[in-house]
Amino acid sequence: MRTPLITLGLLGLASASRQIPLNPRPDGDSLTGANLPLKSPREVLLSLHRSLVEISSTTYNETAVGHFLADYLSSRGYNTELQYLSSDGFGAELQSPSPVSSDPADPKRRFNVLAWPGPSDPGTPRLIITSHIDVVPPHIPYSISDDPPTSSTVIRGRGSVDAKGAVAAQVLALQTLLDEGSVNPQDVMLAFVVGEENPGDGIRELSESLRHKVPPEAVIFGEPTENKLACGHKGALFCVIEARGAAGHSGYPWLGKSANEVLIKALAEVLATDLGSSERFGNTTVNVGKMGGGVAMNVIPEFAAAEIAIRIAIGPEDGANTIIRDRLREILDGVDPDAFSMKCTHGYGVVETECSVPGFETIVVNYGTDVPNLDGSHVRYLYGPGSILVAHGPDEGLTVGSLEEAVEGYKQLILHALRK
Ligand SMILES: *[C@@H]1O[C@H](CO)[C@@H](O)[C@H](O)[C@H]1NC(C)=O
Ligand SMILES: *[C@@H]1O[C@H](CO)[C@@H](O)[C@H](O)[C@H]1NC(C)=O
Ligand SMILES: [Zn+2]
Repeated sequence: MRTPLITLGLLGLASASRQIPLNPRPDGDSLTGANLPLKSPREVLLSLHRSLVEISSTTYNETAVGHFLADYLSSRGYNTELQYLSSDGFGAELQSPSPVSSDPADPKRRFNVLAWPGPSDPGTPRLIITSHIDVVPPHIPYSISDDPPTSSTVIRGRGSVDAKGAVAAQVLALQTLLDEGSVNPQDVMLAFVVGEENPGDGIRELSESLRHKVPPEAVIFGEPTENKLACGHKGALFCVIEARGAAGHSGYPWLGKSANEVLIKALAEVLATDLGSSERFGNTTVNVGKMGGGVAMNVIPEFAAAEIAIRIAIGPEDGANTIIRDRLREILDGVDPDAFSMKCTHGYGVVETECSVPGFETIVVNYGTDVPNLDGSHVRYLYGPGSILVAHGPDEGLTVGSLEEAVEGYKQLILHALRK
């Protein structure tokens, strides 16, 4: 372990953070005003979490929460940078038109929030602690079941789990370690990215910005893992399959060609095919999430399309996606060599993360994350409060106790990552 460096700047940061009113609320409740009583760690955590959840930040509309977080961190002594997204291309393959603005004058131009407690030129920190600030729609207002809260109090709202629980817990964990002097400020950086839910463009920008720098040794990713340390997650591939036929009168099917029929046959074949399995990750699964075709019941459909999400259970991380894509292509050609076109995202095979840290239960998850989109050979940890089973749903929520446990979990992981 490197000797912790306690600088005057750090002590200043620690004491400043006790005097600045956290989350001043517009309705002027008792948390604002002069002569604040010292807030308890629980109050500080819940207050930050609440502010984050209250600000609607569905993907492509993250600027308000980004500004809030940057202000929050800079008022606590961090150096901050709004890392504007330079490209609007990545992951937009399946989206048209791309809703991303790259116009520098556009106030809606999207950015990641970087914050570091060390010197103003951060160099490359040894550890990056990251999560995402975008959420899936619709916005669901913040609510809390008891006041004053206890550990079993439930907090609900969009993003309360995925991933603003992780963001709040990460900020508090790092702050606690800095206050204690157990982490060297130069070693760490917070990176809160946009666009994780779709299409991963925030983490790509971060990845690009690190390309020519000394790589970090480790990265902690915050996503809901029920406070268990993830050993990895499934790979993913998203494809749009289009079928073309020939229109005609439904009474004379042999005179046309039904795009719906060939698409249904192909999808049935895809669903019946074993696309690979592994002991750790189970089966590769296919979700036909969206389909459509034809214009009327009495017209032979000329066009049909389906959008499918494949959760890949085989490796390698870099390449299994191509194996699956080629297999899909074979199946389509087997059903009808002329009817289909297919477009897929980049995709990736199974992603393995570091999970041999003493004191943690482990888990394997089926969802995708930003982990594979940050290039480099750093050690990767994946951990966070709340359950994926409620994230993205109408009852998204977690307990105060699980948020607090996550603060402790992140502290352990930060120390583990920096232990040398
Ligand atoms: C975008 O975010 C702002 C700030 O949170 C919010 O007021 C607005 O309703 C959001 N717009 C959409 C379309 O979600
Ligand atoms: C994987 O698929 C096989 C059949 O293809 C099935 O028997 C098995 O139960 C599946 N495993 C899981 C974990 O779903
Ligand atoms: Zn997430």
